[in-house]
Amino acid sequence: MPILGEQGQDAKFQELCCSFGLEPSNIPQHVAIVMDGNGRWAAKKGLPRVMGHKQGAESLREVIRACADFHVHYLSVYAFSSENWTRPAEEVGFLMKFFRELIAREIPKLHKEGVRVRILGDVEGLDKDLRDLVRYAHETTENNTVMQFNILLNYGSRAEMTLAVKRLSNDIVAGVIAAESVTEDVFASYLYTVDIPDPDIVIRPGGEHRLSNFLLWQSAYSEVFFLDTLWPDFDRVALVQVVAQFQTRKRRFGGV
Ligand code: IPE
Ligand code: IPE
Ligand code: MG
Repeated sequence: MPILGEQGQDAKFQELCCSFGLEPSNIPQHVAIVMDGNGRWAAKKGLPRVMGHKQGAESLREVIRACADFHVHYLSVYAFSSENWTRPAEEVGFLMKFFRELIAREIPKLHKEGVRVRILGDVEGLDKDLRDLVRYAHETTENNTVMQFNILLNYGSRAEMTLAVKRLSNDIVAGVIAAESVTEDVFASYLYTVDIPDPDIVIRPGGEHRLSNFLLWQSAYSEVFFLDTLWPDFDRVALVQVVAQFQTRKRRFGGV
C-alpha cells in the first residue's frame, strides 16, 4: 500500500487552510460520508429521483477535489448499501448503470490527479461488467498517492463483519491463526477496510440521524455530523464548515 499525502505541508496548502480559517495541523486524516438526500432533493424540485442521483455525483466531484486540496488522505463515501436492493427495480437499474458510467468516465481523471480508488463491499454480488470496472479502477490507480478515495458499493457493515467472522473462523480451523491470538486489530484486518485508518469524521447530510449500516466498527470513535443539507446541495464550503467544527471538538477516546 503506497504512502499517501507525500505532497507534504507546502505553502499553498498552508495558505488555503488559512483563507478558510482551518488549522493546517489538525486536518482529519479520514472523512467518511453517507451521501443521503438525493431523492428528496429531486422531489423538492418536482424532478424524478434519478435527477437527484445525478446532481449528487456533482457534489461528489467537488468534495473529492476539496479533500485533495485540504490534504485529507482518505475519503470514503457510501454509494449503495446492501439494503438498497429493496428499492424499485427501475431505480436500482438506473443506479447500477450510473455507477458503470461514472467509473468508466471518472477513473482516468482521478488517475491523472493521483487519486487511488478502492471499491469496498460485496463486489461479487455485482454484475460482471461492474466487477470488471472495479478491477480496472483498482489496477489503474493502485500506485497513486495524493489521496485514497473509497467507494462503498453494495456495502453493509453487518454483512462486512459477518464475512470477517466467517473468514477468520476458516483461518482458525485451518490453523493459520489461534483463537487465543484474535485481538481487535486481528479482527479489523479481516474487514474491507484493512489498511485504512478509522474515520475521524462521519458526515450524514440529508436530515436523518442514523448510520444506516455504515462503517459501524470503524466509526467507534469518529466525530459524527448530521446535517439537514441534502447531499446534492453539499459542497466545498459545507465540508470546510464540518472540518472547522471538528477542529473545535475534544476527542477523548475514553480518557479524561
Ligand atoms: C442516497 O439518496 C443515495 C442512495 C441511497 C443510493 P437517497 O436515494 O436515499 O435519497 P432520499 O433519502 O430518498 O432523499
Ligand atoms: C444510506 O441511505 C445508504 C446510502 C447513502 C448509500 P439510505 O437512504 O439507504 O438510508 P435509510 O433507508 O434512510 O436508512
Ligand atoms: Mg435516503
